[in-house]
Amino acid sequence: MQNFEQFLLDNLPQSQSIHPTYEAALQNMLKAGGKRFRPALLLDVVKAYNPLLIESAYYAAYAIELLHTYSLIHDDLPAMDDSPLRRGNPTLHIVFDEVTAILVGDALNTYAFEVLAQAPFSDEVKVKLVYELAHNGGLNGMVLGQAIDCYFENKPLAIEDIKTLHTNKTAKLIAASLKMGAIIVGRDDVAQQLYDFGIRLGLLFQIQDDILDVTQSDEEAGKLTNNDEDKNSFVTILGLERAFQEADELADSLLLQIQTFDKSLSQELSPLLSKYITRHKGK
Ligand code: IPE
Ligand code: IPE
Ligand code: MG
Ligand code: MG
Ligand code: MG
Repeated sequence: MQNFEQFLLDNLPQSQSIHPTYEAALQNMLKAGGKRFRPALLLDVVKAYNPLLIESAYYAAYAIELLHTYSLIHDDLPAMDDSPLRRGNPTLHIVFDEVTAILVGDALNTYAFEVLAQAPFSDEVKVKLVYELAHNGGLNGMVLGQAIDCYFENKPLAIEDIKTLHTNKTAKLIAASLKMGAIIVGRDDVAQQLYDFGIRLGLLFQIQDDILDVTQSDEEAGKLTNNDEDKNSFVTILGLERAFQEADELADSLLLQIQTFDKSLSQELSPLLSKYITRHKGK
């Protein structure tokens, strides 16, 4: 991931103007780090099937990270989760102001597609990648999930509806990361299988995030924790114990499914996934 980080730093959003803090604000949350989980998923799929394409794949991995980072900046706004801390740093609306955080989110969202459009792939592959990122990160994906998440604050949902919420909010972008890797290497035949796996992986990722919200400190998480009381989180609805059970079951089933993947794919994905699939047990 070191080379990917360098690619990201080499391609930070730039804008010189009379605005004294705009460019710094654009770059702030990208430089702050984060797990880079979604880029790592995409890059592992590419490594498994065609390592020669890895550097070209950085464009797509970065596009996903840009869209994800925009979603976090907006997620932290006072109108949404109202959080002062992200990736171990004060959030943009704290360092700068709300206007800046809203506009930086907008800018990173569109910059994601600008980067994708510049990727060294055929136009056909690029159109497929643009579609996946927009379809899963947009109006019937992450944005829908965020809309349901915020609308139903303090209105408890049924467990099936909570799964729909989190599938949209979190799982679709994670599933798209794997599928975009398959598209880049021309393996449309495994794309759907990876997408379905990614949806379940993404659901687990959000259950774990909800568990960590109540088990980790702000310092450990690098973000404000104990912040989900009004939310339809897995923990507020199921309780911590049942959320753990749900996470354990999903984790076991995902670990079994990895063994059914092509050997090169399971080999590439295993180190990353074994770390993340069990992360709710940490601490
Ligand atoms: C946080 O995502 C938001 C969720 C979808 C749970 P990450 O946990 O991947 O955040 P970063 O990228 O590491 O900051
Ligand atoms: C947000 O979920 C998921 C996004 C689409 C950004 P959370 O609100 O649980 O994410 P954190 O806990 O603030 O990272
Ligand atoms: Mg939120
Ligand atoms: Mg939040
Ligand atoms: Mg959370």
